Amino acid sequence: MNFPNDFLWGTATASYQIEGAALEDGRGECIWTRFSHTPGNVLNGDTGDVACDHYHRYESDIALMADMGVPAYRFSISWPRVIPAGTGAPNSAGLDFYDRLVDQLLEANIRPFATLYHWDLPQALQDRGGWENPDVVQWFVDYARLMGERLGDRVKDWMTLNEPWVVAFLGNYTGEHAPGKQDLKAAYQVAHHLLLAHGEAVPVIRQAVPDARVGIVLNLNYVDAASDSEADQQAARRHEGYANRWFLDPVFKGHYPPDMVDWLGDTLDGIDLEAVKVAAVPTDFMGINYYTRNMFAHDDTGDFKTRTVHPDHDRYTKMNWEIYPEGLTKLLVQVTEEYSPNKLYITENGAAFDDPAPINGVVEDTDRVDYLKAHFEAGSAAIAQGVPLAGYFVWSFMDNFEWAWGYTRRFGIVHVDYATQARVPKRSALLLQEMIKQQA
Ligand code: FCB
Repeated sequence: MNFPNDFLWGTATASYQIEGAALEDGRGECIWTRFSHTPGNVLNGDTGDVACDHYHRYESDIALMADMGVPAYRFSISWPRVIPAGTGAPNSAGLDFYDRLVDQLLEANIRPFATLYHWDLPQALQDRGGWENPDVVQWFVDYARLMGERLGDRVKDWMTLNEPWVVAFLGNYTGEHAPGKQDLKAAYQVAHHLLLAHGEAVPVIRQAVPDARVGIVLNLNYVDAASDSEADQQAARRHEGYANRWFLDPVFKGHYPPDMVDWLGDTLDGIDLEAVKVAAVPTDFMGINYYTRNMFAHDDTGDFKTRTVHPDHDRYTKMNWEIYPEGLTKLLVQVTEEYSPNKLYITENGAAFDDPAPINGVVEDTDRVDYLKAHFEAGSAAIAQGVPLAGYFVWSFMDNFEWAWGYTRRFGIVHVDYATQARVPKRSALLLQEMIKQQA
C-alpha cells in the first residue's frame, strides 16, 4: 500500500449513535428519539437514550483515541442538543459540551471534523414538516451559522450533511428510518431541500469560520448490472441515477440528472428543479461513505423497475452487504473521471460482523481486519490511478446504535460492553494504528 505523506487517517461517529443523554441538560427530542420509542421501528425496541454514554464519557473516549494515535476524528453535532426547538434560543449546556469535546480533541492533537447533520433533526421541526417544509433551508443555515461562530476558531473542517440519499429515501420512501414515511413524492421534496440547505450553508460557514474547509458527505455504493442484457444495464443505470447521480450531479454540475427527471415525471411536480443550481457551490472536498456494491436486474414492478441481485458467494457482512473492495477503487475512479473533484475523503468505511468476545483485553475481529485491509488497498490503488484521495475515516471508532438495527450490528474498532460501558480495542484498532505509524 502506498499513501502520500500527508494522507489523513481517522475514525468517525455520529451524535445520536453514541452520545446518549437523550433528554439531559436541555437537549430537545429528535426524530430518532421519537422513532425509536415507537414500537416496531427498531430491532429489540432499542433506542439511543443511553447508547455509548459518550456525553459523559467523552474524556476517556478521546484519551483512548489519543492512545491509538488517531490524527483525525469525524463527529457530528446534535442539532436538538444545541437548539432544542430547532429554531430560536440555543441551549448553552449543549454548546458547552461541544466546546469541551473540541478543546479536548485539540489538546490530544486530534483534528476535529464536524458534521452538522447526521440525521437527528429536532422533533419540533419535524412537527412543522421537517425537511419537507421549504423553511428548513433557513432553519439549517441559522443552525450552521451558530455552530460556525461558536466552534470556528478551533474547528476548520466542516461537513454540512451526512448521506442526503439516506435521509430522503430511507426516511421518507422506504420508511426504515425516522421519520418513517412512505411517500416517494415527499422523499424528492426532502432531497431537494437537503441540497438547497447544503448550498446555502456553505457560504455561511465560510463567513463564520476563518479558513474553513467545507464539504458534503454522500453515500456512494458501486453499482453494477446483473448481466450484459440491455434491460439490466438500464436498470443499473437507473439505480445509479436514483442513489448516486441525484446528488452528485447537483453538487458538481448544478442540475439534476436529465434521464432521472424524465423517468420520474410528475413525481417531481411542485419542485423548482432549476433552484438546485445553488448546490453546486464551490467546496473544499467531498466525503464519500463506501460500504458495498449494489447489483441490479430489470424488474417489471416498482417505481424504478429494478430488482436487487445478491451475487452467489459467501463474502457478505452481518448487514448482508457484499464485501467488494474493488468497487471502492472503481467508484473513486468513476467519480474522479466524471466530476473532477478537487479533493476526496473516505468519510466512512467499515463493516459489521459477529465479533468474538474480548479475551485478555483484545477482540480478535479477523473479519473486520481483512475487510479494512482490502479496502485500504483499494484506496491506495485509486490514488495510484490519479484519484485525489486525501484521507480515510474508519466507521466506526466504537460499536454504537446502528439505527433500525439497534445494538445488534457492531461496526466499532473498539468494542463496547453496553452493560458496563467498558471499551476494549479490537485487533482492527491495532491495524489502524499500524497504518498511522507507517505514515509518520
Ligand atoms: C452509514 C451511516 C452511519 C452508519 C453506517 C454503518 O450509512 O452514515 O451512521 O450507520 O452507515
